[in-house]
Amino acid sequence: MVGSWTAAFLLGLAASSAAAKTPEKSHRSLKRRAPGVDRVTHNVIPLKPVNSVRHHHTGLRRRQSPGNGTAGLAAINNPGQANYVAEVGWGNETFSMILDTGSSDTWILQEGFQCLDSTGAPTAKSNCQTGPQFKGNFTGGQIENVNFNITYGSGILAGKFGWEDITIANVTVKDAQVAVVDQAWFTFGVSGLFGLAFASLTSEFPGSDPTKNDPTHYMTYEPVFYKMVDQHLSLPTFSFAPDRDGPNGYFSVGGIPPVSTTGKTAAASILTSKDTRSKPSINRPDYYYINIDGAIVGGINGTNSSSFPPFVGFVDTATTLTMLPSAIATSIARSFNPPATIASSTQLYEVPCNATAPKLAITVGGVNFPVSADDLIVRPLLDPATNQCIVGFQDGGGDYILGATFLNNVLSTFDLGTLEMEEDELEHPQVDS
Ligand SMILES: *[C@@H]1O[C@H](CO)[C@@H](O)[C@H](O)[C@H]1NC(C)=O
Ligand SMILES: *[C@@H]1O[C@H](CO)[C@@H](O)[C@H](O)[C@H]1NC(C)=O
Ligand SMILES: *[C@@H]1O[C@H](CO)[C@@H](O)[C@H](O)[C@H]1NC(C)=O
Ligand SMILES: *[C@@H]1O[C@H](CO)[C@@H](O)[C@H](O)[C@H]1NC(C)=O
Ligand SMILES: *[C@@H]1O[C@H](CO)[C@@H](O)[C@H](O)[C@H]1NC(C)=O
Ligand SMILES: *[C@@H]1O[C@H](CO)[C@@H](O)[C@H](O)[C@H]1NC(C)=O
Ligand SMILES: *[C@@H]1O[C@H](CO)[C@@H](O)[C@H](O)[C@H]1NC(C)=O
Ligand SMILES: *[C@@H]1O[C@H](CO)[C@@H](O)[C@H](O)[C@H]1NC(C)=O
Repeated sequence: MVGSWTAAFLLGLAASSAAAKTPEKSHRSLKRRAPGVDRVTHNVIPLKPVNSVRHHHTGLRRRQSPGNGTAGLAAINNPGQANYVAEVGWGNETFSMILDTGSSDTWILQEGFQCLDSTGAPTAKSNCQTGPQFKGNFTGGQIENVNFNITYGSGILAGKFGWEDITIANVTVKDAQVAVVDQAWFTFGVSGLFGLAFASLTSEFPGSDPTKNDPTHYMTYEPVFYKMVDQHLSLPTFSFAPDRDGPNGYFSVGGIPPVSTTGKTAAASILTSKDTRSKPSINRPDYYYINIDGAIVGGINGTNSSSFPPFVGFVDTATTLTMLPSAIATSIARSFNPPATIASSTQLYEVPCNATAPKLAITVGGVNFPVSADDLIVRPLLDPATNQCIVGFQDGGGDYILGATFLNNVLSTFDLGTLEMEEDELEHPQVDS
């Protein structure tokens, strides 16, 4: 669907099943959020850019942290407005990794890995543009007779599992189960990925030969963030405060990062999914599915705005575009001046880069969160075939995702203790202090 050009820029890193995806979800509400986790932490890391298409980055400019936090803060960067990347410690080294709430495994590319094409066939190394690769071996040893094998919306990987000390947001998790990848279709200019979804989405298979995997015969293990919580190194909560254009975003664990919000806030329960991939019926969360209360296209208080009904989607920090029900996507497309059209090159809505974007708000927890025009027309994503810009909100065709183009507008807190998400409107533009 998405052409090879867009695959190189647009992330779609929700784990997807090799087997039929039968989204028979049970949208049961869970208990309410406990107060107290909204404290500011200094355990953050900055989000850093890779694959920068347009912007020049002059290095990380850290915000002053207020101190007194107890958990982790890390800068995240948002390269080309397309993906959230941070520095992650792997043993005694540090690598740039994508932070992904749409999958649960944490992995790194091994030096000399076999580059694959989008069909999974071996191809020349030059087709895999990645960051520096890992030259070592697991500090805590390899786990024998199991293998790692995952297919994402835009990636295919296989490798080995082992035990490693992983550091994120200045918190080190000893002997976390992670993977070193020896075969990959992966073109995102980074060294690896940090998976933040639930354990039920992990991708461990018995046996050492991934070609013999039976997609329904999987194993489940404890993802790095779970282990961090189990080791009492963090409260069971993490947050993303992206900075649309660059290096002033934060990822934090155990509290919220020191960013300015407008006070507009909403909460939504994380839903359990009975069977969102090939795994047997389990009534527990896998992706961060929430109820989305709808959308408003057009002037938010205007007479000509259209409102749309609720739908269920998941929050995925590693999917660039927001994928919406057809009726909303069509209405947004029509409301650009000039209207957006689907380009044959990308099969996505595109507009001239100087088009005027409509007003759009996405409603979560009963609160309307306006979306910046910068996320409606993703100017760093220029389609060379049409010389037009990609629209940030697309037709999901049944699979709905709140991706970076929505998440850039809010501080998102994932509370695994209460199974609730909180969204807080960010004050934009963020001004350097
Ligand atoms: C940190 O905590 C101490 C003692 O509770 C307090 O006096 C100080 O003002 C706090 N600093 C900040 C930046 O919140
Ligand atoms: C990391 O540790 C290994 C041995 O455990 C050593 O060979 C390597 O030089 C170290 N690398 C760095 C960057 O310190
Ligand atoms: C890593 O160590 C394991 C044993 O724990 C060994 O079987 C494997 O060959 C090593 N891999 C590399 C690339 O050295
Ligand atoms: C990271 O943690 C260590 C030990 O917990 C602490 O000494 C150091 O100041 C922290 N660094 C930052 C940048 O917060
Ligand atoms: C991953 O597992 C599938 C079976 O589920 C297999 O067909 C495929 O070859 C494996 N991928 C790799 C890269 O080995
Ligand atoms: C919309 O109306 C509300 C309530 O009247 C008001 O507080 C808000 O500022 C208005 N928003 C805009 C964008 O005009
Ligand atoms: C509402 O839409 C109609 C037709 O598209 C247009 O003529 C009218 O000016 C619009 N009104 C406002 C307040 O935008
Ligand atoms: C947008 O760009 C096109 C082509 O460069 C130009 O013809 C058109 O006048 C521009 N429109 C606006 C509103 O600037």
